[in-house]
Amino acid sequence: MSGGAEGGFGIYIHWPFCQSKCPYCDFNSHVREAVDQERWRRALLAELDHYAAATRGRAVTSVFFGGGTPSLMPPQTVAALIDRVGRHWSLTPEVEITLEANPGSVEAVKFVDLAEAGVNRLSLGVQALDDAALRFLGRRHDEREALAAIDLARRHFPRWSFDLIYARPGQSAADWERELDRALGLAGEHLSLYQLTIEANTAFEGAARRGELTLPDETAAEALFDLTQANLAAAGLPAYEISNHARPGAECRHNLVYWQGGDYVGIGPGAHGRLTIEATRIATRQHRAPEAWLAAVEADGHATREHRALEPEERREELLLMGLRLGAGLSRERFRAALGQEIEQALDPARLQRLVEGGFLVVDAGGIRTTSEGRLRLNAVLSALLA
Ligand SMILES: C[S@@+](CC[C@H](N)C(=O)[O-])C[C@H]1O[C@@H](n2cnc3c(N)ncnc32)[C@H](O)[C@@H]1O
Ligand code: SF4
Repeated sequence: MSGGAEGGFGIYIHWPFCQSKCPYCDFNSHVREAVDQERWRRALLAELDHYAAATRGRAVTSVFFGGGTPSLMPPQTVAALIDRVGRHWSLTPEVEITLEANPGSVEAVKFVDLAEAGVNRLSLGVQALDDAALRFLGRRHDEREALAAIDLARRHFPRWSFDLIYARPGQSAADWERELDRALGLAGEHLSLYQLTIEANTAFEGAARRGELTLPDETAAEALFDLTQANLAAAGLPAYEISNHARPGAECRHNLVYWQGGDYVGIGPGAHGRLTIEATRIATRQHRAPEAWLAAVEADGHATREHRALEPEERREELLLMGLRLGAGLSRERFRAALGQEIEQALDPARLQRLVEGGFLVVDAGGIRTTSEGRLRLNAVLSALLA
């Protein structure tokens, strides 16, 4: 097994703080009155140093500041982390450095400083282009601020994208099509379009349980998904992953590292990592609670809660779970590099054949991939393939 080398090498940095908690969100994000910026900067740098020791000599293809709301980070902290990444590892010439940003005006004024710090791709959480929908989603920004942030992103970052959430309660296909048209008029070369999901332990989960919130049913949601795929493809931004659309060549390279089974370091509260060390695929996970993470890093130089070799079965499941999200699927080379086996050896031929004949999977000289029908029912496809 040669591991993740060919799939790129990414660094994920988690910033766990937000100004308020959105009712749909189950990310590791927390609201705190004050954050000791000095301590957080030192701790993130320390954890980066810790993982650098285990992965020296690799060339970094992407850095991703995710959250939470990383646009709340002081730009000096972002600059210090990017600088430190460059000291520990070499950076490929076209290294992609993404930061997730909320469109609130407080953060927008920081865009210039973030670009100067080295961020070259901004991912904006626009979520909706409609004030009533933004209020429903519990967002702090309105449509006007979203448009202003998109304009700033376009001016200050060579690459940028924004997120929208659709299949909201009461949203008709005609409503969504109008919003999508507007989004396409504003978009650069990348858009992330997520169907609203109700996650455990969120305010929306409680509301759904009490009958106060009803999502579109399966048929309606499927129609919205199909409409999204068709209109974006027609506009030249086909889906390269279930929820991600880009002009060919403008895909988010960091996310491709995850989906193609590549290696990445994950630092900050709750961050996960995958590293190939001496031909063994290692899974890492950092302490999730921000204060416990900070205390552990200050005591030990890192807050690693898990560091273990993945079993071959876990490795196979994970590779398919991620790779089959992609329109292009997994090439034979990636499959072989990750599992040391051919597709036909690693998977049950009868199950594979049923899924191919059912129109959910394609297996050919290039590799293995889902059809759009298969992508829409990915969980069912995976259980039929692996159970
Ligand atoms: C880590 S969050 C983005 C960070 C940034 N704080 C923001 O909210 O703009 C990544 C994206 O996942 C999407 N997302 C989060 N929870 C979701 C849910 N329950 N259903 C659909 N999309 C969701 C949102 O579009 C969000 O922008
Ligand atoms: S969606 Fe973004 S801003 Fe809202 S709570 Fe989650 S991470 Fe924070």
